[in-house]
Amino acid sequence: MTESVKLIYGDKEYQLPVIMGSEKEKAIDISKLRQKTGLITLDAGFANTGSCTSSITFMDGEKGILRYRGIPVEQLAEKSTFAETAYLLIHGRLPRRKDLTDFSVLLNDNSLVHEDMRAFYESYPRSSHPMGILSSMVNALRSFYPELHNLQEEINMTVTRLLSKVRTLAAMSYKISRGHKVVYPRPDLTYCANFLNMMFATPVRPYEIDPDVVKALNVFWILHADHEQNCSTSAVRVVGSARVNLYAAISAGIAALWGPLHGGANQAVVEMLTEIVENKNMKQMIERAKDKNDSFRLMGFGHRVYKTYDPRMKIMKKMCDTLLEKLNITDPLLDAAIELEQIALNDDYFIEHNLYPNVDFYSGIVLRTIGIPTNMFTVMFAIGRLPGWIAQWKESIDDPNWKLSRPRQIYTGPKENRYVPIEER
Ligand code: SDX
Repeated sequence: MTESVKLIYGDKEYQLPVIMGSEKEKAIDISKLRQKTGLITLDAGFANTGSCTSSITFMDGEKGILRYRGIPVEQLAEKSTFAETAYLLIHGRLPRRKDLTDFSVLLNDNSLVHEDMRAFYESYPRSSHPMGILSSMVNALRSFYPELHNLQEEINMTVTRLLSKVRTLAAMSYKISRGHKVVYPRPDLTYCANFLNMMFATPVRPYEIDPDVVKALNVFWILHADHEQNCSTSAVRVVGSARVNLYAAISAGIAALWGPLHGGANQAVVEMLTEIVENKNMKQMIERAKDKNDSFRLMGFGHRVYKTYDPRMKIMKKMCDTLLEKLNITDPLLDAAIELEQIALNDDYFIEHNLYPNVDFYSGIVLRTIGIPTNMFTVMFAIGRLPGWIAQWKESIDDPNWKLSRPRQIYTGPKENRYVPIEER
């Protein structure tokens, strides 16, 4: 028997069905609410509103659980690779060996970008933020790779081109911004090793592939690969619901991720920690974060869903320690981050607000250790999140119930009035 809730409005009673997911989450189905009652719901930031059903990623914010297609992210970080996890998210199952080999060959064969795209980079101001460049370049891919008539081929080729070329676009952006020679992808390198080589190899100094750094990058991108209906994924779904091409929908997701409250937080954390180390003002920063009259937020802390530790943060912190030790690097930002975490977690304000470190709190320190420049940290997040955006977009277009996203509103503006000629104003 379907569970329901009773809504009493005026002198009428309405029954609204309750649906339950595979992990026993429940939602009131309000798809017929306005038709039955004339009412709509209002929920700023959609904190209490589900936009869809999805079988891709499960999060439990109270228990700190994150699973991709049912597999705990801890197991994928330990045992999988980013390419294999991307396959899992997009195709809904772990690849067999032949699937993975074919997938890797496809990614390799589609890793180049049209040579004319270099002109786009050359005309960007050198001070441009790499996220703005990436969003434009991904949108431009449609112009270089026009739509294929066969829908399934169009989807498969666009997905492969995006997954493979996004690395090349990001590395090109880095090289050209520094006036360095662009390094091409190599067929003998894995997904992550290829990116590192494109970023750091030069004609006079080959890049030495360190397996621990490659492992760290695989784990970094696995941890960022999907996160159910976060801001940027919702942007991809909303823009995709207008049936625009996938490149444009992903470009919108990149733009949303750029924000400092979302993916831009990893860059903001490192800038905040750098300021704390330079000015020795950790206590003042914590007080500012607690001050309701101050818009400053402690970057890398808090989460809309996690009200306990972000499971990704724990893995990221462990990776920080391993990598710094392996490369024999000491980073004052890590020491500051550990101290800040300890102070905040023992402070009543953060305890009462359920504010814990999130994925962005240590991720910037991992990227610094690998040698990624700070202004490319969110680009690294975007490359990691790409398979999740693609999987969520694919799920939405395959959903028979999916429709154009078009929320309603409650109008609070002036009542009807008349146009006043300028002479009378
Ligand atoms: C990501 O959604 C996802 O899944 C995102 C993500 C993903 O993988 O896609 O996990 C990636 O975006 C992680 C979050 C990165 N952002 C930051 O680290 C920026 C700092 N964090 C905050 O801006 C904030 O915590 C948010 C935006 C992340 C979440 O905020 P909510 O859920 O909208 O909560 P809120 O702003 O309504 O805050 C609730 C209360 C407020 O105090 P009160 O008005 O109730 O007294 O908590 C306070 C806030 O002032 N608060 C903070 C705080 N975060 C929330 N106070 C100080 N510092 C903070 N970081």
